[in-house]
This record gives sequence, C-alpha cells and structure tokens, in this order.
Amino acid sequence: MKSEKLKSVRIFSGIQPSGDIHIGNYLGAIKQWIALQEKNDCVFCIVDWHAITVPYEPKLLRQKIKEVTATYLAAGINPKKSVIFVQSHIKEHAELTWLLNTITPIGDLQRMTQFKDKSKKYGGNISAGLFNYPVLMAADILLYQTELVPVGQDQKQHVELAREIARRFNAKFGDTFTLPQAQIMKIGAKIMSLAEPTKKMSKSDKPETRIGLFDTAEQIKKKIGSATTDSGKEIEYNPEQKPGISNLLTIYSLFANKTIKDLENEYAGKNYQTFKQNLAELLIEKLAPFRTKKAEFEENPEQIGKVLKEGAEKARAIAQTTMEKVRATMGLL
Ligand code: AMP
Ligand code: TRP
Repeated sequence: MKSEKLKSVRIFSGIQPSGDIHIGNYLGAIKQWIALQEKNDCVFCIVDWHAITVPYEPKLLRQKIKEVTATYLAAGINPKKSVIFVQSHIKEHAELTWLLNTITPIGDLQRMTQFKDKSKKYGGNISAGLFNYPVLMAADILLYQTELVPVGQDQKQHVELAREIARRFNAKFGDTFTLPQAQIMKIGAKIMSLAEPTKKMSKSDKPETRIGLFDTAEQIKKKIGSATTDSGKEIEYNPEQKPGISNLLTIYSLFANKTIKDLENEYAGKNYQTFKQNLAELLIEKLAPFRTKKAEFEENPEQIGKVLKEGAEKARAIAQTTMEKVRATMGLL
C-alpha cells in the first residue's frame, strides 16, 4: 500500500533585525522553522521595516540585516528548501499594508498588547508606524497566502489580527486570502528573562538578561551563574511560585531533549549550583556549532548577498501574483 504523503503547507515567519538573537527566539521560533522546512513550502523573512518602528541606528541596520541572515543560515535554514528574503526588497509589502489599513478598525490596533507595552516603554513618543505595525505584519503573512505562522507566544495576538483582517477582506471583496493560523510550541513559546523571570527574554533588554545564540563559553557561564533563582532549594517546575528555576528547567529540557519530569528526578536532592553548572555546560556544547557556522557565513558576504537576491526573486513572484488579485478585486485600475 502506498503511504499517503502529508500535504505541504505554506509557512511564513520573520524576525526583526534589531538586537542580538537569543535562545528565546531560537526555542520559540527558529527551531520550529528548521523542522517545518523539510515537508513544507517555507518563506522566512528579515523584517527590516518592522525594526524601524522604534528608534534605531541607521548605521547599524544594514549590518543587522546581514547578521540575521547569517543567523538563519547558521541555525540550519536551508536556502535550497526555504525562501529567505528581506522585507524591504519586496515593495508589495508596503502596497498591501496601505490597502489593508483601509479596512482595519483603529480600535483593533489600539487593543494590541505589544503596542500598549511599547507605547509605555517609549514614553508616548510613538510613531504612526508603530501603531500600524500589525497591519504590516498582516500584509507579510497574507501576501504569501500563508496557512501557518510559527512564532512565540508574544506574536499570537498579531497573527489572530492578520486572520481577522483576511476574513474581513474576503467578506467585503470576495475570496482572496488564505486564512492564516499561528503555530506556537507547547513548551518554549515564552522563554523568560534570566534576571527577571516573570518577564519574557527580550532582544531590547540588557545582555545579562538573555543568552545570545552566539555567546561565548565565558558569557554563558557568567550569565547562567548569576541568573535569578527562587527561594527554597528544590529543583522543581512551578512557574507560579518558582519562575526562575522553572525557566531554567524549560531551557535545559529543550536543549537536552529530556522531559522536565526526568530532569526533576535527575536533580532531586541536588543544589541550584550543580544544576546551573550543568546547564551552562550543556548550552556551551549546543551553541558552539552555531557560532562556528555563523563565523563561516560572515566571512563569505557574497554568499549572503546571493541567498537574499535569489530569495527576493522567489518571494516577489508569489507577492506579485497575490497583488494582481488584490488590485483587481478592490477595483483598482
Ligand atoms: P523578535 O525578537 O520580536 O523579532 O521575535 C522573533 C521571534 O521570536 C517571534 O516569533 C517571537 O515570538 C519569538 N520570541 C521572541 N522572544 C521570545 C521569547 N522570550 N520566548 C520565545 N519566543 C520568543
Ligand atoms: N512582529 C514579529 C516579531 O516581532 C516579526 C514579524 C514581522 C513576523 N512580520 C511577521 C512574524 C510575519 C511572523 C509573520 O516577532
């Protein structure tokens, strides 16, 4: 009997070229992408237009875009299997954002928790770009007729809004967009800050709050050593009462491919210090290959340029097909 081939689906996701990619980005997003690219039609974007919605350094942006590309490649995204491209290279993202803005209620954007958090963080000094950020993200997703969007927990609300915008567009103008859905890991979708384990690990916080994907052995030892733990000394998973050790257990479990239960048994009666030392060694071992590969790609800038050029050509073909439909259905000449 022939085995039935699983249906390949269109996948889209992206990361902003801001700050340094950390293990939260890896465990919440990139790790899923690597698995998904084997059987699916994947499109992975470096979302530079999103990164400029808050203050940034123009001199560093270009470097960051190349760095995120090298990160994708070093982490195992294969340009022969997946499309890798830079958002601003495909002007259709801006065009579709404008059109989707015309059917997006302001109230929906005011509700977005990330907008509210960032507004607070930047003291009310907020651009229209930051407000419209979720519409640009909807355009990213809908242009590629995406079915699944693998992201961390913090992006769930944005993907749901993209789905709502697609639904509203289809109802108003006729069936045009595939309705996308977020794909979120059961464990690892929200890795917490090492310093404040009730807050998510973030690219924009201080370096000691996160493990960078390319951190050195010394940095890893120091950061894990000084990570906040909780009162008591049991190594047990209890995110409510022991957020610090629970976060470290989550990280350990995902990198070691062991269940949290197994780790709790393994470390029964042992102290935080031993656990932290072993976790640091594990991270040093698992992250070393990323560092070596990223350095190889960075020594070869032509290769990065080539990947992005070929990626843009493939992405553009898909985006243009969608835009022709959109213009026609909206009554544009
Ligand atoms: P960003 O750093 O905002 O560009 O996020 C890139 C991807 O990583 C998105 O899919 C996020 O949801 C995911 N992500 C960011 N921070 C974390 C975290 N602390 N834990 C898990 N996933 C995360
Ligand atoms: N807003 C996302 C983040 O900060 C990045 C992003 C932009 C994205 N466009 C996307 C993620 C489309 C998934 C799909 O993490």
